[in-house]
Amino acid sequence: MQNFTYWNPTKLIFGRNQLEQLKNEIPQYGNKVLLVYGGGSIKRSGLYDRVVKYLQEIGADIHELSGVEPNPRLSTVHKGVEICKKEKIDFILAVGGGSVIDCTKAIAAGAKYDGDAWDLVTKKAAAEDALPFGTVLTLAATGSEMNAGSVITNWETNEKYGWGSPAVFPRFSILEPENTFTVPRDQTIYGIVDMMSHVFEHYFHPEENTLLQDRMCESLLITVMETAPKLLEDLENYEHRATILYCGTMALNGMLSMGYRGDWATHNIEHAVSAVYDIPHGGGLAILFPNWMKHNLKVKPERFAQLAVRVFGVNPEGKTVEETALEGIEKLREFWNSIGAPAHLADYDIDDSQLDVMADKAMVNGEFGNFKKLNREDVLAIYRASL
Ligand code: NZQ
Ligand code: ZN
Repeated sequence: MQNFTYWNPTKLIFGRNQLEQLKNEIPQYGNKVLLVYGGGSIKRSGLYDRVVKYLQEIGADIHELSGVEPNPRLSTVHKGVEICKKEKIDFILAVGGGSVIDCTKAIAAGAKYDGDAWDLVTKKAAAEDALPFGTVLTLAATGSEMNAGSVITNWETNEKYGWGSPAVFPRFSILEPENTFTVPRDQTIYGIVDMMSHVFEHYFHPEENTLLQDRMCESLLITVMETAPKLLEDLENYEHRATILYCGTMALNGMLSMGYRGDWATHNIEHAVSAVYDIPHGGGLAILFPNWMKHNLKVKPERFAQLAVRVFGVNPEGKTVEETALEGIEKLREFWNSIGAPAHLADYDIDDSQLDVMADKAMVNGEFGNFKKLNREDVLAIYRASL
């Protein structure tokens, strides 16, 4: 295990009837509030009206930025930064899924930066300061509600990058499971795949002796796999929505990854696909992750075998470590198939015509992956296996 310091300042407010806490949280930051949201789901669900009511009750001067895209775009970040600078916004409230929150993080940091916010995303400059912001989460998936990461797409150049800074932890996040009742079935599935993938990214790391971290990762995976089929049968079940919502946050708020650095190659490979084809992040991961696993099985087969036995219930008797490991990967694929996740790039009409372009994008900073460094040939092999 490596040395570590754990610090997560986001106040997590979880459960029924928690939205009213906006009235306690926001006034300490000021009166001019920029409300950021997506393509309209919060209007259809009634959440928008509830949020605005509480903002009005505290006398907030409300400004709005709507239309944040899934896979949020730099052009929208620019609009938000402009509003913040022009209107001297004190506080930003993100109401939506990971895309709305990620966009808000870039706006918050961009508002305190003199140059183009794209510099922060491409790490040309570090985000040292940001406007304070809070979130009301509506979709269980990314963990963005309790981490300091953000992923932004520049649609003019087809680049999609993750970036982060301690300055962009949300001050608070309000998680009412009922706000996720209206998440459609497909987005619910993508979210489930995404949170499981975050745990896999942690799980495959080069350290030894991460006994508790392993068990914590495994228990989160088992919990998601037990709950997901029940939730998909009953999308408005409070307890199942609550379990999945809590899992999504815990999967990427740093709690599972103390003392080691996970792999994160599959996320990089996926971001290169969605930068070109604008597919849902979770859908891309469902296609790619089992193939990343197969490609790297030989690096440390016993790690894959441990996952297979403890999480996927594979019986190792009479099998080699590699056979056990492979059976676990097959069971992951079966599970994702069983809940309706995609398995091939062809499911999104993606053929082999842009593989080189995507590989170039994935390789933009050279070889990557902390469990196993991938080179361009590795990336192409994983894409080809995913067609
Ligand atoms: O835009 P609206 O109308 O709100 O609709 C959204 C959107 O179409 C809809 N939706 C959200 N909540 C809903 C709802 N529809 C009905 N009822 C609700 N309650 O769902 C669609 C997808 O939303 P989006 O925010 O894009 O999904 P998600 O939360 O999966 O976020 C995906 C983005 O996050 C990035 C991804 O790359 C992608 O850009 N990631 C961010 C991470 C982070 N910051 O830590 C880590 C992740 O690995 C990921 O890369
Ligand atoms: Zn993800």
